[in-house]
Amino acid sequence: MPCHNALKHRGGLTLANYAGAMKGGDDGVVIKAGDPDNSLLIKVLNGPVDSPKIPKMPMGDGTVSPADIQKISDWVKAGAKDPDY
Ligand code: HEM
Repeated sequence: MPCHNALKHRGGLTLANYAGAMKGGDDGVVIKAGDPDNSLLIKVLNGPVDSPKIPKMPMGDGTVSPADIQKISDWVKAGAKDPDY
């Protein structure tokens, strides 16, 4: 993930590791375990968000397929558990 990796924290957010993803970014937590509909991470994948004002992700080139968005949403719904445990 070129935009939210260990070196580049666009929006104050790193998605390079579980701790970083759960910590969130400039606008606070982006993952609400069990609640994908209110998780900023899922919202920005589905379109721009007004409050806070964040464009649709990924910005610029690249897309995340609906199937992958669903996979991430299901993971959040199931409690956003650390995949390494
Ligand atoms: C080409 C790839 C990407 C680029 C260049 C990018 C860039 C950015 C930038 C510049 C911001 C700050 C936006 C602002 O505050 O106006 C941002 C925020 C954010 N991005 Fe991305 N992004 C990319 C991919 C992704 C992907 C794939 C996801 C989700 C899996 C994602 C999730 C987020 C979230 C949740 C925020 C809000 C962080 C916060 O404000 O707390 N981004 N991104």
